Amino acid sequence: MGIEVATTLDALRAQVAAWKRDGRRVGFVPTMGNLHAGHHSLVRLARAHADRVVASIFVNPTQFGPNEDFARYPRTPEADLAGLADAGCDLAWMPSVEAMYPFGLDGVVQVRVPGVTEVLEGAHRPGHFDGVATVVARLFHQVQPDVAVFGRKDYQQLAVIRYMVRELAFPIRIVAGDTQREPDGLAMSSRNQYLSAEERTIAPRLYRALCAIRDAMRSGTPRAAAEAAARASLADAGFDVDYVVVRTPELAEPGEGAGPRVALVAARLGRTRLIDNLEFSLD
Ligand code: PAJ
Repeated sequence: MGIEVATTLDALRAQVAAWKRDGRRVGFVPTMGNLHAGHHSLVRLARAHADRVVASIFVNPTQFGPNEDFARYPRTPEADLAGLADAGCDLAWMPSVEAMYPFGLDGVVQVRVPGVTEVLEGAHRPGHFDGVATVVARLFHQVQPDVAVFGRKDYQQLAVIRYMVRELAFPIRIVAGDTQREPDGLAMSSRNQYLSAEERTIAPRLYRALCAIRDAMRSGTPRAAAEAAARASLADAGFDVDYVVVRTPELAEPGEGAGPRVALVAARLGRTRLIDNLEFSLD
């Protein structure tokens, strides 16, 4: 099975419209390319929820800060297309920046989600989630899928998308895919390849710190102590920690007692900023 590539909105719309005329359900996986097994797992999940799958590859300039890695973000279209075809994707949507933002980057109609965008990643990367919501809203308008799949790896992004879909009444079901990890626990990420050999041996401690928080809290350690211990162990290992915290699933500060929790971390190793999270429950 070959994969089709659309680089114009007309070509994308013609294909999706033809599928819909035939009564096919369309699934969608937005990405920035440089695809790994985590992305491929989302394509498979989309396949399980739909008859045809579209994946987009677009390194979105509006979600990168001025000192972030937009220019050097890895671009590997050929390998990406081969991997998408293998995973069962039918169509790759690969727009140019001009096709995505026809009035230029100064003429963008922005989508800004309140609340959930203001903490954690939002606080450390001002404007990041505005760029994400802005591009995902137009990707949804372009592709018009029935179902869209996002990874739990970007926990807060998923919350932003769910809020936007509900608030703007997109007729799209959002499905979440589990985080795919390397054998040593490191969450797969396009940014892992920025790590030096030495940094790569340290990076799995991020996930271990999250597991340690979960285990400590389950055996009665108060939240603040578990967070502080994780921060100290990561700093010891050479990380520059932006945050390592435990939150409710809605990213509010949890009280004492039982219930679902998520531990979230963002930390830099050298020049590479990594994020991860772990969902667990306290009983
Ligand atoms: P990107 O970082 O390419 O990620 C695309 C999708 O893959 C996201 O839903 C992300 O959560 C998921 N993903 C990344 N690593 C994963 C892993 N290890 N396991 C499972 N899923 C993983 O997220 C973006 O692109 C962009 O912000 C985007 C939504 C495309 C908007 O530009």
